[in-house]
Amino acid sequence: MRLQGKTAVVTGGAGNIGLAAAQRFLAEGARVLIVDRGEDRVNEALRQLASNDVHGLSADVTDGDDTARYAAEAQRLFGQTDIFFNNAGIAGAVAPITAYPDAEFDRVMAVNVRGVFLGLKHMLPAMRDGGSVICTSSVAGLRGSAGMAAYVASKHAVVGLMRVASVEASARRIRVNTIHPGPVEGDMMGELERGMAPADPKAAHALVLQRMRLGRFIERKEIADLVTFLASDESRMISGATMVIDAAMAGG
Ligand SMILES: NC(=O)c1ccc[n+]([C@@H]2O[C@H](COP(=O)([O-])OP(=O)(O)OC[C@H]3O[C@@H](n4cnc5c(N)ncnc54)[C@H](O)[C@@H]3O)[C@@H](O)[C@H]2O)c1
Repeated sequence: MRLQGKTAVVTGGAGNIGLAAAQRFLAEGARVLIVDRGEDRVNEALRQLASNDVHGLSADVTDGDDTARYAAEAQRLFGQTDIFFNNAGIAGAVAPITAYPDAEFDRVMAVNVRGVFLGLKHMLPAMRDGGSVICTSSVAGLRGSAGMAAYVASKHAVVGLMRVASVEASARRIRVNTIHPGPVEGDMMGELERGMAPADPKAAHALVLQRMRLGRFIERKEIADLVTFLASDESRMISGATMVIDAAMAGG
């Protein structure tokens, strides 16, 4: 087992990718704390994970006190944390910059940038030397895409935060990397497709699929494969890296 004896915190742990990662971490021998917004979501995820080694906490990642609370809970449960999957995120509205609602821009930046920043701020001190932090960016963190100003800006910002953290944490041999998934099967892509073409989301789905040169959407367990590699000692000399997993997606 690749994560035997390790401890992990997963934000957005009740969501598509977070839940798959938590499941894999448990299967690889880790103890896990999942963090997500809303008791019901967290309890449903705990029910699905069905393990004595998993714990849950409802917290809003945009809130400093909530973030301090989940970091304190990790310390109470585990002592030190080996793996921090800083993953919670939202897609936001689809609209050109000229029509993009100000409040929606702020909402996306709050979760995707402030949430990742606060996670690093409070979790780094709670981590064991030699640990691994994985922040979820996106293909949208490396290139532009029409209609997605807030999401694209926020996911580029995640790369900036990762780069600073990877330098600052290197003295403690803590590695910090980003993952950059392309479209993954699940609710977030469904929501985006409805935003792209409210009258015909299936057509939007077909257009996205056409760009995926490897022929299909990515499965969440394939994202969990990459996250597990970055969480494990197999990636011990990788830090400051932007790891793309996008089915060779074409276009910007
Ligand atoms: N699904 C994709 O195709 C895709 C592609 C690239 C990147 N991503 C990124 O992957 C990450 C996970 O997304 P997903 O696909 O699992 O989507 P998801 O919506 O299934 O999961 C996201 C989770 O984050 C939680 N969350 C949102 N706001 C929160 C807040 N303020 N506080 C605490 N939790 C909050 C949600 O409740 C949800 O459980 C996100 O950062 C997303 O941007 C997803």
